[in-house]
Amino acid sequence: MTDTVSFGYEDVAPEEKTRRVGEVFSSVASKYDLMNDAMSGGLHRLWKDKFVRRVKPRAGEHILDMAGGTGDIAFRMARSGASITVADINPEMLAVGIERAAERGIASGREPDAGSLVWSEANAEQLQWPDRFFDAYTIAFGIRNVTDIPRALREAHRVLKRGGRLFVLEFSTTQWPGFAEAYDAYSHHLVPRLGQLLAGDADSYRYLVESIRRFPPMPEFERMIREAGFTQTKVEPLLGGLVAIHSGWKI
Ligand SMILES: C[S@@+](CC[C@H](N)C(=O)[O-])C[C@H]1O[C@@H](n2cnc3c(N)ncnc32)[C@H](O)[C@@H]1O
Repeated sequence: MTDTVSFGYEDVAPEEKTRRVGEVFSSVASKYDLMNDAMSGGLHRLWKDKFVRRVKPRAGEHILDMAGGTGDIAFRMARSGASITVADINPEMLAVGIERAAERGIASGREPDAGSLVWSEANAEQLQWPDRFFDAYTIAFGIRNVTDIPRALREAHRVLKRGGRLFVLEFSTTQWPGFAEAYDAYSHHLVPRLGQLLAGDADSYRYLVESIRRFPPMPEFERMIREAGFTQTKVEPLLGGLVAIHSGWKI
């Protein structure tokens, strides 16, 4: 691992990034879902729907939704009858998710069961599950916040069964001329203001914007996925690459 990693536009020690990312999500947890709608104009819902259509969860499967936060991806996948483990490093994000699941009448339990959710505190870099345990591993808008991304990808590979699949939904860089510039101005100037207005926290939202800009471009991230051992990797850009769905198989 290198000596420093990016925390937004800053370069910091790895342990400092983990701590500060923790502070960001503890700070935004209670307003996270409202802010997602405000920042994306509701678009994140469509991206998440599409992502889950690509995952194609099936009854009887056991899926790990890593960095699952407040449960958006897990709720969608649970409809299929698959059993979902929602894992996140941040207990405050999970607590909001557990509350939301109860409001939606989605069962939460201790053991994986059809259509129900297990909530689990976990660091993507060091998972507590044995080798070859899950049928699929999903991570949505989570991987860029992880301090040691190659290590997290190797862990994803380890806990997947042979024939298991990895799906990553993450911001990237749109290639559409005009749109790229407009998005840049919007995200750098308006998102922190929205964060201040709606969540009382401009700095956390500044970090979220900056972390998007520092995330590797699509071909480089695809190469990282292959280096972790995945094959038949694919990338599907959405809105010219503003967001991308990456996938790969463990064989
Ligand atoms: C932007 S949120 C995404 C939440 C959810 N997947 C969604 O799409 O709405 C990012 C999540 O990544 C989690 N996270 C950051 N670093 C992590 C790590 N090393 N291991 C597990 N989760 C992590 C944060 O706590 C946060 O809940």
